[in-house]
Amino acid sequence: MGRLDGRVALVTGASRGIGRGTALRLAEEGADIVINYASSRTNAESIAEQISDLGRNVYVVKADVSQKDDIDSMIDFIRREIGQLDIIVSNAATGGFRPLMKASLNNFRAAFETNTLPMILLVQAAQDMLENSKWRGKVVGISSHGAHKALEQYGLIGASKAALEAIVRHLARELGEKINFNIVKAGLVDTDSGRRLPHADLMFKEAPKHACVGNRLVTPRDIANAVVFLTSSDSDMVQGSVLLVDGGADIKA
Ligand SMILES: NC(=O)c1ccc[n+]([C@@H]2O[C@H](COP(=O)([O-])OP(=O)(O)OC[C@H]3O[C@@H](n4cnc5c(N)ncnc54)[C@H](OP(=O)(O)O)[C@@H]3O)[C@@H](O)[C@H]2O)c1
Repeated sequence: MGRLDGRVALVTGASRGIGRGTALRLAEEGADIVINYASSRTNAESIAEQISDLGRNVYVVKADVSQKDDIDSMIDFIRREIGQLDIIVSNAATGGFRPLMKASLNNFRAAFETNTLPMILLVQAAQDMLENSKWRGKVVGISSHGAHKALEQYGLIGASKAALEAIVRHLARELGEKINFNIVKAGLVDTDSGRRLPHADLMFKEAPKHACVGNRLVTPRDIANAVVFLTSSDSDMVQGSVLLVDGGADIKA
């Protein structure tokens, strides 16, 4: 028996990286999965195939989460075709690493419209299904160290993640009676977006030394395991929190 048997989960940005690992892990725990992607159809279909092989129902939906119409259409599809949505993992995000002094208005908008706004738009569109979940509705956002630290060329993304965390706390206050809202804050994970960080090779070489769990990097599966906890009934009393999954890197002086 899985911890998420009977649930339906939407994972945004599930074609690659952390979202992909999360979709697979939620399916292993028994959830049917809606895979969202923006452009990588082949990747989205390959993870859908793996999930289908586990015996789960799986749906693949192309939607740009920075666009309200795309989000509304995706949620309408879920309402029409499945009639149930218990879990949302708002994972998709965009990079755009640059100093704040070189950031344009469009750069600012892109960061906030892709990394922050979807949390609100997804919950507005799916509130009824989340509130009608047989369990409690569960919503999880994925944040990063940049929400509370100053990282190189990370000002816009860091600010968008800090805003995401604030929005999750306020959603918990507004809708917490029937839905749990929490954040998983991930340490450095070896994904396509991680590899676009300034000095990525050096960072990935050094990162395991910064952890307090022995010499290893955080993996998508480590993040996914925390998401499983925050989307299962084990976390019904965890509300508006930020769960840091970085192998202890943040506590080291
Ligand atoms: N990697 C790290 O070290 C790290 C650390 C802390 C937090 N995070 C956070 O973890 C999350 C996942 O990051 P990742 O490293 O796994 O990234 P990734 O490997 O680059 O994957 C990004 C995913 O997001 C999707 N996506 C991007 N823009 C989208 C849009 N507008 N609409 C829908 N989907 C979109 C991509 O879809 P396509 O494949 O179709 O393009 C892809 O599936 C992000 O929120 C990121 O900020 C990452």
